Amino acid sequence: MARANMTMTRAKKTGGKNKRMNTAKKSNSRKPKISTSLPGPKAKVILNKDHKFVSPSYTRSYPAVVEKGQGVWVTDVDGNVFLDFSAGIGVVSTGHCHPEVVKVIREQAGKLLHMSGTDFYYPNQANLAEKLAEIVPGAKNKKVFFGNSGAEAVECAMKLARYHKRRARYVAFTGAFHGRTFGALSLTASKATQRRFFAPLLSGVDHVSYAYCYRCPFNLQYPSCDVTCVKYIEDVLLKKVVPAEEVAAVFVEPVQGEGGYIVPPAGFMPALRALCDKYEILLVDDEVQSGMGRTGKMFAIEHFNTKADIYCIAKGVASGLPLGACVARAGVMDWEPGSHASTFAGNPVSCAAALKTIDLLENGLIENAARLGEIAFARLSTLRERYDFVGDVRGKGLMIGVELVGDPITKEPVKDRRNAVVYEAFKQGLLLLGAGESTVRFIPPLVINESELHVGLDIFELALKKVFRA
Ligand SMILES: Cc1ncc(COP(=O)(O)O)c(C=O)c1O
Repeated sequence: MARANMTMTRAKKTGGKNKRMNTAKKSNSRKPKISTSLPGPKAKVILNKDHKFVSPSYTRSYPAVVEKGQGVWVTDVDGNVFLDFSAGIGVVSTGHCHPEVVKVIREQAGKLLHMSGTDFYYPNQANLAEKLAEIVPGAKNKKVFFGNSGAEAVECAMKLARYHKRRARYVAFTGAFHGRTFGALSLTASKATQRRFFAPLLSGVDHVSYAYCYRCPFNLQYPSCDVTCVKYIEDVLLKKVVPAEEVAAVFVEPVQGEGGYIVPPAGFMPALRALCDKYEILLVDDEVQSGMGRTGKMFAIEHFNTKADIYCIAKGVASGLPLGACVARAGVMDWEPGSHASTFAGNPVSCAAALKTIDLLENGLIENAARLGEIAFARLSTLRERYDFVGDVRGKGLMIGVELVGDPITKEPVKDRRNAVVYEAFKQGLLLLGAGESTVRFIPPLVINESELHVGLDIFELALKKVFRA
């Protein structure tokens, strides 16, 4: 908590003076430090070994070989220091190696590493379940199934929905990413590479268009569209293709992540909720990427005044230790012993890290994400006014996407140039990731302060100018 408060105090001080220039150029703020060519000599040794022995299926965009991290900074094996705007793909919510998280991990590791919540009890797992039941939106009476990852949380939700409803089918969205295990992959529809050669996937999944207003699949405009993308589910899918009484659940990301950091309009989630209520279909909210304070609220769905029946949580929940959770209304999680379980899941060390993470989020970091998110959004939005190739800026809190285009009218995606911007930023000491076909995502750890934010955005802008020759 001390670190979180410190961050907030520092942030407030800077905010107080706040006639701050939108640049860190003239300040004494800490900056990345790149002192070797990239990759450096020690990094090259690791890369060679990695290329020889590690699965080629991973999606590395640049050769960052990280040795240690603290807060929003990581140091590579050659001593180069980077500003991390990826947070280990949205995982280190409290920053790298937050001292209080590390402390509880050390304490727990000295007491009990593993016992298996499948067959035994231990305090941390029950305590964390109680806490998750409290913070997840909806009535307090909920139950939690623990897994080790986002995909496992989604697998649990898929099985639970079938079990509870005794219905076999699911509806998911184009652009969705719910994981890569077979069940979760059957819902995922964000890139063909993720599915290529893996068929047959789970049958009974129908994909419909997400509310991607910048590229509306119906060529309409919100709000006059009257959320046609949800009406389509009722008027076409459920009337002509899939009887509603066969559908167990609709899976949705309240802010679509891997698909391109797409924020749906205000009416989308409530319309989906109303549709699910009408046909007694479960609404499953995948908060794996958007949850745990990332969007400036504990869960992104809270921005839309909507409650789901089942929630999937992972990534930022335990500050870097593996943990996933599927949280459902108690009446929905009604399965019998033996119907679902996992040996490692809900590991006591991960649970300890999660309890401390939630404490830090509730005591300053969510607020910080909301406040700095607004600053980042405002600054990134000015890029759209200045550069034609910045097609769209969207996001909530510190989950922001900047979609780059070849032309503001045709909105032609520019995947290669997006990748070049990400690579150029890496060379300048900023770790970014892409999302979707043509978007750059900004997901720094939630401990970031204003000066670090501007240092990163300065580098991003320089990278943009260099790649687009602006
Ligand atoms: C929304 C969402 N759901 C599920 C997953 C899968 O999580 P994991 O990679 O931990 O299996 C991800 C991963 O990016 C995600 O963004």
